Amino acid sequence: MTIISPSVLGADLLRLGEEIELVERLGLKWLHLDNMDGHFTPNISFGPDFVRAIRKKTDLFLDVHLMFTNPMDYIDTYTKAGADMITIHVEADDEPRYVIDKIRENGLKVGISLNPHTAPERIRHLLPYVDMVLVMTVEPGFGGQKLREYCLGKVTVIRDMIEKCGRDILIAVDGGIKVDNAHRVVEAGADVLVMGTGVFAAADPQEVVRSICGAEDAGCTY
Ligand code: DX5
Ligand code: ZN
Repeated sequence: MTIISPSVLGADLLRLGEEIELVERLGLKWLHLDNMDGHFTPNISFGPDFVRAIRKKTDLFLDVHLMFTNPMDYIDTYTKAGADMITIHVEADDEPRYVIDKIRENGLKVGISLNPHTAPERIRHLLPYVDMVLVMTVEPGFGGQKLREYCLGKVTVIRDMIEKCGRDILIAVDGGIKVDNAHRVVEAGADVLVMGTGVFAAADPQEVVRSICGAEDAGCTY
């Protein structure tokens, strides 16, 4: 079963309402919201007011990705804005375990993300406390980049680490996923495919979903 989590960074932000309706029409259940602080990343995207506006518009599962140096300062704000899950980076300045505990205390699902050059070993000790591991296959900051193939080996290593940990933890992959490489990402061990331009800039998004999730779309409506 494969979950597609469309990243609104790849959407037409001037038609965001229609783009969210498209995701719903496609039968998808997740929406990936890339929040960037311009410090952890060389780009600034959007913040909690944007998440709050989207929350009012949809019941989709809001998969909030915080590319922040100090995410701890914002967990309550994003919780109140309506996030369903918050994913932070292991490379952030704040001690990840404290931020993970805070997200859980707020009743949200929690993910830990690692950048392309970060070794899987860095997140092993956090596996008992998270619901998802988000493997970056691009440097965070921009949509539309090319997937870095060497990161797929990390997905397989993390899959093995999760098996040993004995907990149900999703593996998400984020960056450069298109209809023509999605099968390799799934084969490497991904459960969740974060796709920005691969969905929103596709000529036929329905065909993208169908070819990844199978004709009956069984997996993607998780
Ligand atoms: C990059 C973001 C990704 C990006 C994916 O910093 O974390 O979610 O928006 O966009 P595509 O799928 O176009 O690479
Ligand atoms: Zn992301």
